[in-house]
Amino acid sequence: MPTDAMPTDAVPTDAMPTAPTAPRRGTSPGRGVDRRTLAWSRADVPDLTGRRALVTGASSGLGAALAADLAAAGADVVLAVRDERRGEAVRDRLLAAGARGDVTVERVDVADLASVRALAARVGDRPLDALVHNAGTGGAPERSTVGGHELMLATHVLGPHVLTHGLRDALEAAPAGRVVTVGSAMYRLLRQRVDLTDLGAARRWSPPAQYSATKLAQMVLARELGRRLGADGSTVRSVVVHPNVARTPLQSGGSTPLMRATSRVLAALMARTVEQAVLPLLLAAVADDLPADRVLAPGGPRTDTRVVAERHATVDDPAVGAALWAEVERLTS
Ligand SMILES: NC(=O)c1ccc[n+]([C@@H]2O[C@H](COP(=O)([O-])OP(=O)(O)OC[C@H]3O[C@@H](n4cnc5c(N)ncnc54)[C@H](OP(=O)(O)O)[C@@H]3O)[C@@H](O)[C@H]2O)c1
Repeated sequence: MPTDAMPTDAVPTDAMPTAPTAPRRGTSPGRGVDRRTLAWSRADVPDLTGRRALVTGASSGLGAALAADLAAAGADVVLAVRDERRGEAVRDRLLAAGARGDVTVERVDVADLASVRALAARVGDRPLDALVHNAGTGGAPERSTVGGHELMLATHVLGPHVLTHGLRDALEAAPAGRVVTVGSAMYRLLRQRVDLTDLGAARRWSPPAQYSATKLAQMVLARELGRRLGADGSTVRSVVVHPNVARTPLQSGGSTPLMRATSRVLAALMARTVEQAVLPLLLAAVADDLPADRVLAPGGPRTDTRVVAERHATVDDPAVGAALWAEVERLTS
């Protein structure tokens, strides 16, 4: 797997035990989560010849690993990356490793809505079996995008929303299209809920809290997407996953030497390999009969390769989902 140089602007994410957001009544981090182990493994990945997937943030970490699994099983994979040279390096690695499907590189900055719309226009002319919203960022040092949105909100919520809209017809044209959203369970550690009055954290911004808040919002929005697809009678599914703690550049980053050192220690103690952590993403991208109201995640101890289906009450709240959808529509129109 790629071991890209650690961006000095990255921040520790899912293993970071800071709690800048005060707990709110009724939001115990453990409440509302139960788990069911799924009988599924990498060996169950079918022949994917003829299927097409697009993975954002495929230049690194989980995105590159997912692209490798999909291409090895015969899928055509679009590596949607903001640095084309790094995307091409991943493509070359996948081809050298025996990828059976076509692997193409497309440039996109998912935090830039114009760039996202341009990507959808370029790749949306053919059926798309899986759209994987994997790109993620710790945010610092930039705080806002060319469009004036807070960077992590744009990367995790606004850009993916616009990309889903732009590729909806291509997803509908596939026999069993699905939108896979790579979220995070860090909100449980920080006892967060979606704050509809301050999605961009204008009142109080800190990278770990905003990372986690926007990942939560991303998952809540993905659930709302699923409800709306169901109400429309669509065959497209919206699947939410999280990788727990995975050994990637994002995870091992940090904006200060102390944060980086802390991240390294926590990663050494808690993080799974990318190959293990990517399994819920892979399952979500290829399997049939996925539980609609569950979040797929790695299960058991660090070395365990099973996938579990978790229920997250905070992610599933339909009232928050509907209100968030309306606000995101407003911000992206
Ligand atoms: N690692 C963990 O423990 C963990 C835990 C929970 C959730 N996650 C989630 O897993 C996903 C993958 O992260 P990772 O751990 O594999 O980290 P990673 O190796 O740093 O990968 C993140 C990817 O997102 C890309 N990206 C960031 N901003 C982008 C933008 N504006 N436009 C296009 N691409 C962009 C990065 O591109 P560049 O290479 O150009 O920066 C990189 O390819 C993220 O959504 C993350 O939030 C990770």
